[in-house]
Amino acid sequence: MSGNAPGKKKPTASRKKAAVAEAPRPSAPKQREKSTGLHIGEAAPGVAKVDPIIVADGVRRTFGGLTAVDVEHVEIPRGAITALIGPNGAGKTTLFNLLTGFDKPDAGSWVFDGSSLSGVPAFKVSRMGQVRTFQLTKALGLLTVVENMKLGAKGQKGEKFWHSLVPALWRAQDDEIEERAMRLLTKFKLDAKADDFAASLSGGQRKLLEMARALMSEPQLVMLDEPMAGVNPALTQSLLDHILDLKDEGMTVLFVEHDMHMVRHIADWVIVMAEGRVVAEGDPVTVMKNPAVVDAYLGAHQDVDLGVVTGRYGDGKAGAGVTAAQIEAEGRAELEDEEK
Ligand SMILES: Nc1ncnc2c1ncn2[C@@H]1O[C@H](COP(=O)(O)OP(=O)(O)O)[C@@H](O)[C@H]1O
Ligand SMILES: [Mg+2]
Repeated sequence: MSGNAPGKKKPTASRKKAAVAEAPRPSAPKQREKSTGLHIGEAAPGVAKVDPIIVADGVRRTFGGLTAVDVEHVEIPRGAITALIGPNGAGKTTLFNLLTGFDKPDAGSWVFDGSSLSGVPAFKVSRMGQVRTFQLTKALGLLTVVENMKLGAKGQKGEKFWHSLVPALWRAQDDEIEERAMRLLTKFKLDAKADDFAASLSGGQRKLLEMARALMSEPQLVMLDEPMAGVNPALTQSLLDHILDLKDEGMTVLFVEHDMHMVRHIADWVIVMAEGRVVAEGDPVTVMKNPAVVDAYLGAHQDVDLGVVTGRYGDGKAGAGVTAAQIEAEGRAELEDEEK
């Protein structure tokens, strides 16, 4: 990408400082422990969690005659990475839209971090510490990368009338926001693009920008809708690492993903939806052997690569001898292949 794109602004002093302060991370993939002991009792749909960050009850959304979501009860474990999987049309995106206030349910209620979120609009939900990215990226093409980032910051003082009368207040805050933006862009290797229009980024870079922007609001819960879709294999490992980093930094992650290799590799917990309902829950290895999960996928005539789900370990007997370590090892080998 050219450094002289029209409309490119000069970096400010604070921006340079922030970019230098962050040393490049070593790129070797880290091996990290899965979180276990997340649930109470048998891992069935709706199972209680030891420390849930979201508890949803009776959430239903219909479109005309079609019931897109009909979830009796579901809990999302705090401090872990949960994958929401299921065939196309299962209701995953609709459930995301409901939980984040981008859509309203016909019925139901849910609690995020102890507060009811039913009927709370999206901008307030994000101030309460819950952010999401979209299946189709929503980076604003005619804003620069760094301007996109600044839009992600919450509670900007300049937005308040009285504060806007005291420029010193918002200038100090603006510098702080810009520094945070540049730190995150550096981490996501987008700092060189800070002054380029977002429209000039590749699909994968836009995904990274969307994730970086989500982190500007310092969220507790990060919800990612198909983070891997359209991402160049060269960026796959770094995206996986970024998601694992979120957990290391104390955030909770809930993501929708079709790529079963990714689910197996990074998810601590998997929730399976089909026809609007939760049909199975559990750790990735157990869930992918669950006949209800195999049925859900086969019943929907999916044309995506279902890897584990559709057979290699799908059958209870065939899968009995396969350990989590073997599946992990295979997942890693696949990731390494993809990187080549
Ligand atoms: N805005 C909408 N209007 C009408 N039908 C919709 C709308 N959004 C989703 N649906 C329908 O709801 C069902 C669930 O969709 P979605 O939540 O996008 O599924 P998933 O993300 O699991 O693929 C699908 O049948 C879809 O066609
Ligand atoms: Mg979807």
